[in-house]
Amino acid sequence: MIMELYDKLYKSAEFFDSNEETTVCFGIEAAPALSCELPALGDKNVLVCAGGDSSFYRSGAFELLNKCVGRSDANVPRFENIPPEPDTDCVRRIVAAMEMEKPDVVLAIGGGSVMDAAKAAYLSWQTGMDVKELFGISVAGKKFPGKKFRRVWCVPTTSGTGSEVTPYSNIIDTDNGVKCLIVEPEIIPEYAFVAPELTCRVPQKITVDTALDAMVHCIESLLNVKAGKEHPEAAAWAVLGISMIRDSLPLVLNGNAEHLLVRSALSAAACLGGMCIKVCPTSLPHLCSFSFCGKTTHGAAVAALLPHFWRYYLSDTEIAERTMMLAEIFPGKTPDEVVDSCEKFIRSVGIETAPGTLSGTDASFIDQLAENAKLNPVKLVTAPVPIDPESAGTVFHNVLDKVWTR
Ligand SMILES: [Fe+2]
Repeated sequence: MIMELYDKLYKSAEFFDSNEETTVCFGIEAAPALSCELPALGDKNVLVCAGGDSSFYRSGAFELLNKCVGRSDANVPRFENIPPEPDTDCVRRIVAAMEMEKPDVVLAIGGGSVMDAAKAAYLSWQTGMDVKELFGISVAGKKFPGKKFRRVWCVPTTSGTGSEVTPYSNIIDTDNGVKCLIVEPEIIPEYAFVAPELTCRVPQKITVDTALDAMVHCIESLLNVKAGKEHPEAAAWAVLGISMIRDSLPLVLNGNAEHLLVRSALSAAACLGGMCIKVCPTSLPHLCSFSFCGKTTHGAAVAALLPHFWRYYLSDTEIAERTMMLAEIFPGKTPDEVVDSCEKFIRSVGIETAPGTLSGTDASFIDQLAENAKLNPVKLVTAPVPIDPESAGTVFHNVLDKVWTR
């Protein structure tokens, strides 16, 4: 197993080298690369965006920053305590800090929430557009055609969203409590310094949730057959990422939570998941997961929803064929058996796959899922098996009624 993980990490490094737009400095390369890049900025202004105590200080990120800037007090302007699930008000506060510091470089150190908030704020500050105006697809790119903006540098301290390489930022609109998405090439990070040692002390529950999020990114991306035809290279990234999570997550639960090789595999898989969804986006499990915000974690929600929508997709022959690409990772002789095997794995790491039981809601909540999904009709009509928005309620009930609580 150990040698296999080394081989897989070696392979993932090749994939990182081929990644466009974001320079990925992974593993033992991460700290030296950051140590080279930061002092090379000279007297340029740097603003660090960070999370709370656990993600910034206890992870070791603060010490890493000290080392990289070559001083003991890490005397770099910082905006700290960015919360999980950042909202528009939080992003506006970061923009106000940017207005003070006028950063030439923004260094986002934290989990997906920190990176998402920093990405949104840096573009908001540079364009002068309020964060709400950035919601949607390439809004800033269309308003400023051809203009290039400075993009954040990321140091992830969890292994999940892959935000360090994606054009996505999820922000809650404070006016209505709805999670909204910015999809914008101009927020793809310029650098990702992925130092897996920073994730060694992430608590087990968060490790499981974030790893499953990354796994679902890889699987949903693989099942996105249409986009996969434009980006055939992404299938290998997805299979490798899924395989590393399948190998390493049980090791975390079996007393190897601080093993650097295990953490490296999870960090690499998360980054591969980000590369996957950049070119082959997620679909129904992620779309429906937004309605679970505040009821359970994002990773648990997407993992609970995945097997059921995956079985719905299997009516498509090409998706059934792609599913069999995972037959060695999730053993099965048929596509249905592969999905069963994946669901068994999700449950084996402690996540309930009955979405109603997980979220504490009864089956009437499925109507709410359908109503919320209709707010994003593009995701419905571009799903691997497309859904007419008007039929979303019927389809969702067909898919979820029997499995809602078991
Ligand atoms: Fe996700």
